[in-house]
Amino acid sequence: MDPNRTVRKAVIPVAGNGTRFLPATKAMPKEMLTIVDRPVVQYAVDEARQAGIEQIIFVTSRNKHSIEDHFDDAPELISSLSRSGKTAQISELEAMLPTAGSVSFTRQQAPLGLGHAVWCARDLIGDEPFALLLPDMISFGARGCMAGLMDLYSTVGGNVLGVEQCAPEDTSSYGIVGKGPDVPHGFSVTHMVEKPPAGQAPSNFYLNGRYILQPDIFSILARQQRGAGNEIQLTDAMLTLSSQQPFHAHPYDGRTFDCGSKQGFIEANVAFALARDDIGGAVLASVKALVLSHEGRTRVA
Ligand code: UTP
Repeated sequence: MDPNRTVRKAVIPVAGNGTRFLPATKAMPKEMLTIVDRPVVQYAVDEARQAGIEQIIFVTSRNKHSIEDHFDDAPELISSLSRSGKTAQISELEAMLPTAGSVSFTRQQAPLGLGHAVWCARDLIGDEPFALLLPDMISFGARGCMAGLMDLYSTVGGNVLGVEQCAPEDTSSYGIVGKGPDVPHGFSVTHMVEKPPAGQAPSNFYLNGRYILQPDIFSILARQQRGAGNEIQLTDAMLTLSSQQPFHAHPYDGRTFDCGSKQGFIEANVAFALARDDIGGAVLASVKALVLSHEGRTRVA
């Protein structure tokens, strides 16, 4: 559990069906839905890079080609932009292009659950600790959540989970951890429970889709045990691992939007747009006008 073992690789699972966004996701991956002008998955990649990750491993599936294309070069587009003198757009595309060989793809043939998706990356990860970022959970803050997990990992090693506090009545919708003694950048985890029934949560700290895990998780996932929803659940494997290794949690000081839900996706679009220098003022005016008009209509009705 050596904190000096560097976390160089990140897994980003993108093989789910995105059923909550049908029909939009019939032919398009939900990870390519846009928050302002970038696909959802781009935010996770940027956050991983900001945290020092060198290698990104996508777990993909059929109909996800556009994700591979998004992280590849686009020479025809660059030539066309160049002919039109669109240098700012060229710089932006070049800045987001990963260095050759720093992105890998593996396939999950059937969406058997998040635990199964992570297990599909086992050979690409090998015997080293790795980061895991769920791309539909988007960090919004001065810096991404993964950088904070790295701070905590560098002091305690082991396994590290990103958490945030939710309203007590919402704990039954999330994976929840119990809070033990504080450590620098976080606290030690005493329990982990997936969607506890109302009134039975050990705390209101929920898992926000950011993890640093030891490779020992793979031998547990290899048992392919089905859990809630008949899926191979990552939380079940983490629970087993927690009887052998320490788990700590890092409370994120920003906010995470769950872009896998329609409400979270729309909130994220508004929040990211309002924070932009180029469009923030105009969007604020539009949102205010929309709210006033909506309230007027509601009152009349
Ligand atoms: P979600 O459960 O939010 O994704 O998984 P989903 O299953 O695609 O969504 P709905 O509920 O049907 O709308 C979180 C992340 O894990 C990936 C998803 O692609 C998403 O990025 N995932 C999930 C996999 O890669 N494989 C799976 O079997 C399940």
